[in-house]
Amino acid sequence: MPQFDGLTIPSVATLQEALRRMLASGEEALILVGEDGEPLREITERAVRRMRIAGFSDETPLSALPPGALARVGAAEPPEAAQKAMAAANLRLAAVVDARGRVASVVRRDRRDEPILLSPPHVGGEEEELALHAFDTNWIAPLGPNVERFEKDIAASLGVKAALALSSGSAALHLSMALLGVKPGDLVFCSSFTFIASVAPALYQWAEPVFIDSEPDSWNMSPAALERAFAAAAREGRKPRAVIVANLYGQSADYDPILEICAAHGVPVVEDAAESLGADYKGRRSGSIGAFGVVSFNGNKIITTSGGGALVSDDVEAIARARFLSTQARDPAPHYQHSVYGYNYRMSNILAGVGVGQLRLLERRVEQRRRVFAFYEAALGGLDGLSFMPEAPFGRSNRWLSTMTLDPRRTGGVAAADLMAALTAAKIESRPLWKPMHRQPVFEGRGYFGHGDNESVCDGLFEQGLCLPSGTALTEAQLERVVDVIRKTLRR
Ligand SMILES: Cc1ncc(COP(=O)(O)O)c(C=O)c1O
Repeated sequence: MPQFDGLTIPSVATLQEALRRMLASGEEALILVGEDGEPLREITERAVRRMRIAGFSDETPLSALPPGALARVGAAEPPEAAQKAMAAANLRLAAVVDARGRVASVVRRDRRDEPILLSPPHVGGEEEELALHAFDTNWIAPLGPNVERFEKDIAASLGVKAALALSSGSAALHLSMALLGVKPGDLVFCSSFTFIASVAPALYQWAEPVFIDSEPDSWNMSPAALERAFAAAAREGRKPRAVIVANLYGQSADYDPILEICAAHGVPVVEDAAESLGADYKGRRSGSIGAFGVVSFNGNKIITTSGGGALVSDDVEAIARARFLSTQARDPAPHYQHSVYGYNYRMSNILAGVGVGQLRLLERRVEQRRRVFAFYEAALGGLDGLSFMPEAPFGRSNRWLSTMTLDPRRTGGVAAADLMAALTAAKIESRPLWKPMHRQPVFEGRGYFGHGDNESVCDGLFEQGLCLPSGTALTEAQLERVVDVIRKTLRR
């Protein structure tokens, strides 16, 4: 039987063969073809995995699949007919049949006009299968086995002694502040170039944030600025209760000098690794380096539980204390008794099941994000005035978002905002880089320390930078679409 670029599969092939074919080729769907060459239905990875979940063995022939939707057009019909049929049934492929009703060719859905999103969740067949298995287990043992397993898996993945699965990364950051005894009026030094979620948890304790600039090599916290902030605080006879360092866009900050400075002052470091799960710093996993590490499983992150996060540490007792605080701080008593107040911050058992499945895919997702970045870099890297976020020599980024800056003095006047407008017009989502915290109206008047005496690195990044679509499910054709718009806008 002709294979039409591998887009058809005979109904005598097995579930396992279909999965292998789709995973190896990256095809999202195939047309199932009967013994006489007639098209039967479209099959997807998800449809095949659902059969396995329902108990069918890997050796089951595809003919056991229930009837499914099919886009089918005659060879004499115009090309739009196939596109219309696919759009009407929301299918990915259309079978073009000859006069005898046999597959003559297969047409792919034209996705050229579909919007391209920045970083959509990528929860596919394998995660769904794992999550549903985990869901099944819940019915047998509803005491939270997924949460326990997820925590063990997170700790093993990061190489730390303990992990606590929580409802968000923000919750994890807040618990870290509570554990470190941050009180009203305490100073907390924070990265300025970050999302507000890095900083807000210090405010939940009524602390006073002081913002620290980035350094140009990693775009993360500048040790030079941090040193100056410590010196200025010391002149007032003060020191911070904690330093929160954000690892942005998938890249670790340079922790050796940061830890050295903080250790000299006896101040603990909280590592906000919400965006850098799966990245490394000098061979150590991002998130495992500070006194506490925080990761996020929010929907836009490299792996997701739709919403969630974790607090990790080698301090097993501190994590036990955080577990107590995260479940309303209930004293060990037969009745409800509280000597302190806590929070309702635990992750649900069902979401932890999704997390177990997603975490298994972390390395693959890192590779996919890095491939997206490599594509942009190969296509656009040489263009004058366009620079990508550097990968500092001390680590390996997960390239959560592919980010770049445009210098209008060298791009013929094209600024990041112009490029964003052109991308939006082409239905491609992009975003500015984080607006620094020291420039946020809510933090007006707070302290800020730049990388140099008269040099603010993160202000320049904000003014010139943007984030490109970076989802792990992006196809080469979609990446080419993005590159095309950028080249045209820069007239290169
Ligand atoms: C740098 C940074 N810190 C913290 C968070 C907070 O994580 P969550 O959304 O899980 O609360 C996020 C993401 O949302 C983030 O990007």
